[in-house]
Amino acid sequence: MIRPLLPLLALIALLGCSLPLAGPGGGESWYAAEIAPILGESCVSCHGETKAKGGLRLHTPDAIAAGGSGGSIFVADDPLSMRTRILSPEDDLDHMPPEGKPQLSAAARAALVAWIDAGASFTAAAPGRGAVAQGRRSQSKPAPALEPEARDALHAAHVHVEVIDPDQGLLYIDAGAVAALPTEQLIDLIAPAAASVGELSLRGVPEAGRILAKAGPWPRLQVLDLTRAGVDRKGLNAAARGGGLEELLLIGATLDEKALEKVCAIDSLREVHLWGVELPEEVASSLAERADLIVNRGEVTPPPAVEVEAEFVFGKPPVETKLPAVNAVCPVSGTPVDPAFRIVHGDEVIGFCCPNCPKTFWNDPAAHPVERIAAE
Ligand code: HEC
Repeated sequence: MIRPLLPLLALIALLGCSLPLAGPGGGESWYAAEIAPILGESCVSCHGETKAKGGLRLHTPDAIAAGGSGGSIFVADDPLSMRTRILSPEDDLDHMPPEGKPQLSAAARAALVAWIDAGASFTAAAPGRGAVAQGRRSQSKPAPALEPEARDALHAAHVHVEVIDPDQGLLYIDAGAVAALPTEQLIDLIAPAAASVGELSLRGVPEAGRILAKAGPWPRLQVLDLTRAGVDRKGLNAAARGGGLEELLLIGATLDEKALEKVCAIDSLREVHLWGVELPEEVASSLAERADLIVNRGEVTPPPAVEVEAEFVFGKPPVETKLPAVNAVCPVSGTPVDPAFRIVHGDEVIGFCCPNCPKTFWNDPAAHPVERIAAE
């Protein structure tokens, strides 16, 4: 398997370390390829060679393994563990990075959580690239099994339940056929399964927003169908909090401007369908600014801008081909590239530091020369 070489180079350049980071097959480990660059970018300024906030350094495997003043940072279910801290809301006192400091992208957070859940190994190889991009699916901890009573209740109410990923125990739940049931009843039916739901349809459910807010949390939710449903900002907040929501169908849905603004702010989102939803100008333009998002508004002939953007969707072909980027430094910002953000340009894969730089680059490639790393 060809693994990208550049994060290792970036890591060595960044940390000046020469620790054994090879995976079992001699290839680069998951830690070296993806995790160390994220820690380098978002954590090492406070947890590194010069500073050790909380007694913790995160710049080498030994330092990470040594933990902080509270001991190991990987104790499962510890409210102060690294996993809990990066997943907690930003305004939580224990949240990392601290409130007001540059935050992890959804992709980086998903990758760290997936790595921790897989055992936080420094030598294990990375799982398939698609699995990392889809953080939730790569969790080694399967979803909790649905209790038989909860499953029977769903069946008895004619709520469609299907296992979509047997390894992970992920469920598809479709309440569209019983949209007319009282909201409270739907909440009681769906809540026991929420932790296992990967795909959820609340088509035509008038108070879908309330159900999302009350029946969650939704740690594994990736696809949410709210066609002709009624949804509010609170509900969308709840649906997106797990950090893995990738696709949202809002065809003919009822939602106000605040809820639409929330849609723009869900940074894990890769595809949103908005046919028959009136978009205030500001919302339309913030959606258009997101180079990483496919916005399907149901036009018969899509406007050219959408066409162009659809070509560089993260998590789609360039990433799944596992092709390494040709550059180690973002051509727009000059900072190290993040493996999560790569686009195909011409016949090359070009890496960037964040989801915003590709758009700047795409608008004027000549103004942002790519520094290619020399082939070995
Ligand atoms: C702006 C500085 C800053 C950044 C950036 C930062 N932290 Fe922290 N971190 C702190 C401070 C201050 C503490 C100690 C206070 C506390 O425990 O909440 C701390 C404590 C911690 C602890 C607890 C250590 C212990 O044993 O008590 C963990 C785990 C942690 N940080 C993880 C991270 C991770 C992971 C990142 C990157 C995603 C990160 N931090 C980024 C400032 C920072």
